[in-house]
Amino acid sequence: MAQQNGPQSTRYCGGCHDPASLFAGTKNVFAEDLSSVRGHQEGVSCLVCHSIRETDLKGNANYTIVQPERYIYETEEGGSAKLLSDFLIRTYPKKHIDVFAKRLFKTPEYCAACHKQFIDQEVNKVGWVQLQNQYDNWRKSKWNPEGEPDKVVECRECHMPLQESNDPASGDELDSYRFASDGKHRDHRFIGANSFVPQALQLENAAEHTALTEAWLRGERPIPEIEYKWAAGPAVGLELECPDTVQPGEDVKLRVVITSNKVGHDFPTGPLDIIQSWINVEVTDDNGEVVFASGHVDEKHFIEPGSFMFKAEPVDRYGNLIDRHNLWEMVGVRYRRAIFPGFSDAASYAFACPAELAEKATAGEQVGRDFEVATPYQGGSLHVKAHLDYRKADQYLLNFIFGEDSGITAPVIRMASTEKTIRIEGT
Ligand code: HEC
Ligand code: HEC
Ligand code: HEC
Ligand code: HEC
Repeated sequence: MAQQNGPQSTRYCGGCHDPASLFAGTKNVFAEDLSSVRGHQEGVSCLVCHSIRETDLKGNANYTIVQPERYIYETEEGGSAKLLSDFLIRTYPKKHIDVFAKRLFKTPEYCAACHKQFIDQEVNKVGWVQLQNQYDNWRKSKWNPEGEPDKVVECRECHMPLQESNDPASGDELDSYRFASDGKHRDHRFIGANSFVPQALQLENAAEHTALTEAWLRGERPIPEIEYKWAAGPAVGLELECPDTVQPGEDVKLRVVITSNKVGHDFPTGPLDIIQSWINVEVTDDNGEVVFASGHVDEKHFIEPGSFMFKAEPVDRYGNLIDRHNLWEMVGVRYRRAIFPGFSDAASYAFACPAELAEKATAGEQVGRDFEVATPYQGGSLHVKAHLDYRKADQYLLNFIFGEDSGITAPVIRMASTEKTIRIEGT
């Protein structure tokens, strides 16, 4: 982006991804190398979030941020001044709390500043296109029922569940189910769907983060404080519809119904040009032979073409696929599939129940020297298995970034599974 449109164009991304270096003035026309300046690795750090003072609902990082007033000697590195500051901040924390704890942070409108994204003419030279928007999805969904504040489930209630804590900042009187000495603070892992980046960057505790993410995507991470208003079961559930019995040679129809149960916004959400979630189905006979399959990942980590997939295919002004997250060239979307909270989608399949099974059985068998006896086909079974799989990054993009021979791929998380047996009638 910097090479094509100049370093200053990356300010668009920086407001959400990289505010510290953005406000340090590093993304300017004269910047030669955006990644040699200090701060570009900071991302959305403590100070970024805790220094925001006002947001509106336009999105694209439309917030007001202030230079926070620091506690005396807070920024000293080591030495007795720092010891004194640490002592004072714990003994007299009021000022620190006043500066960094705001009611605003509790609201979904606060998250909206960076979780509502669009492109406009300034970025793509053509016009306005909506991108990820967890906020408006959530606002219009069952998690935000009008006139029933007790039933509302906000972003931080799902993404920042309460943790046992002996931190001086534990306790809170503003949330209805909390009190000043509850010995809890809000989890700052922001568990979502990212099982790839923490591992790729070999971050400390990446394995634990990944395990929590997997549990979250399967709907197995308990959040006791909202159990009464949340939902039970998988985050996204699967149901298999198929006939109980079929004849050899008959056409079999399968339907996999996918229901968004515990997701606070579209499933999947985020940059859908990168994220992929799909249905993997396999039908086998009694000998384990595959009769029908869809949604397999090949040895080069590509998903079989034609698979039922949740994703988006944005295009540039010539109709070419945006496959490198080159948002500055994006003008529209030719395909998009995601599920709204509480809603369902369905994947349909058809295949023929193999006639050979019966033919083989009835073809006859040599008995003794003279007789050939045809045994009637006794019937059998088809075993159907369906899974909802998810991965954070498309293989085309990873190959583009890291090279085809890097072997780097995003781990696939199996979010839900279901199976059924279909009886094949005998002859
Ligand atoms: C993405 C934004 C974001 C980032 C990044 C962030 N915080 Fe927070 N933090 C919040 C929100 C929102 C709350 C308020 C939760 C509430 O009041 O229910 C909060 C609350 C807190 C609290 C009050 C206790 C609690 O957890 O309820 C402390 C202390 C805190 N943050 C420290 C930090 C530190 C230290 C970091 C960096 C390691 C950090 N925060 C990074 C958003 C953020
Ligand atoms: C200053 C902008 C900003 C604010 C404010 C903000 N976020 Fe984010 N958030 C981001 C960015 C940027 C990412 C993507 C980071 C990445 O993957 O590199 C992100 C990622 C996330 C993720 C996914 C984490 C993962 O594992 O990939 C969750 C969940 C999330 N945010 C929730 C929230 C919630 C809830 C709030 C409000 C309490 C909030 N955010 C406020 C910018 C922000
Ligand atoms: C009812 C619980 C719930 C609420 C409320 C909720 N989310 Fe989520 N969120 C989820 C689940 C489950 C996932 C994982 C599935 C997915 O990616 O769609 C998720 C995923 C995400 C991701 C994608 C993370 C990634 O790594 O790709 C982001 C970003 C996010 N949420 C932000 C938000 C914001 C912002 C809000 C409030 C406007 C919010 N969420 C409200 C349950 C919730
Ligand atoms: C409105 C705020 C916003 C803007 C502007 C924005 N992003 Fe993001 N971006 C996000 C959030 C929030 C996520 C995390 C969603 C998720 O994890 O599913 C994200 C995710 C990503 C990811 C995937 C990261 C991961 O950890 O999975 C990449 C790469 C990315 N953005 C690059 C960019 C680039 C490049 C630009 C500028 C052309 C840009 N973004 C502009 C908010 C923004």
